[in-house]
Amino acid sequence: MAADLVLRRLGALDLDRAAAVHGESFAPLGERAWTRQDLAGLLASPGVTGLLLQAEGRDAGIALCRVAADEAELLTIAVRPTERRRGAGRRLLTAVIDHAREAGAGALFLEVGADNPPARALYEAMGFRAIGTRTAYYRRGDGPLVDALVMRLSLN
Ligand SMILES: CC(C)(COP(=O)(O)OP(=O)(O)OC[C@H]1O[C@@H](n2cnc3c(N)ncnc32)[C@H](O)[C@@H]1OP(=O)(O)O)[C@@H](O)C(=O)NCCC(=O)NCCS
Repeated sequence: MAADLVLRRLGALDLDRAAAVHGESFAPLGERAWTRQDLAGLLASPGVTGLLLQAEGRDAGIALCRVAADEAELLTIAVRPTERRRGAGRRLLTAVIDHAREAGAGALFLEVGADNPPARALYEAMGFRAIGTRTAYYRRGDGPLVDALVMRLSLN
């Protein structure tokens, strides 16, 4: 499967496709989907890069990260439910790590819901370690607020 994955930069012409991937990926978590305007705004911000991953020609996943000085932040990573557990998330995150390192960052940070075992498992498998908690950070629909774990990966 991994050989059929094709990665490329997310461009201005990909915004609707990227928004569709984001919406489909986060809907089961009860998180608000990012619109094309959200994505356009982020991609126009200093230091932000987006990636689109295709699997056998289908849009499978996206990732966005920001590099500022010697730190990088994973803004989002999303793989369509139908494309999961085939290495797409790992491939996207590996590309983000490589990009952040090449851009001069010494560490990559992210936030993940405490109620999100698949994402936590991916990050732990890639070497991230929890360094803190933001209490009651995520709103999931009408449910209770959910804590976020802050995780860090050293790039040195
Ligand atoms: C998290 C997410 C990006 C993972 O994408 P994916 O393509 O399924 O991940 P991969 O197939 O590359 O998995 C890589 C490793 O992560 C871990 N992992 C991923 N999903 C997992 C799951 N459901 N249960 C347990 N471990 C999991 C495993 O260690 C896996 O390696 P393995 O398949 O060899 O066991 C995907 O589930 C997703 O988009 N979730 C919704 C959006 C989201 O939560 N984004 C992160 C917000 S912080």
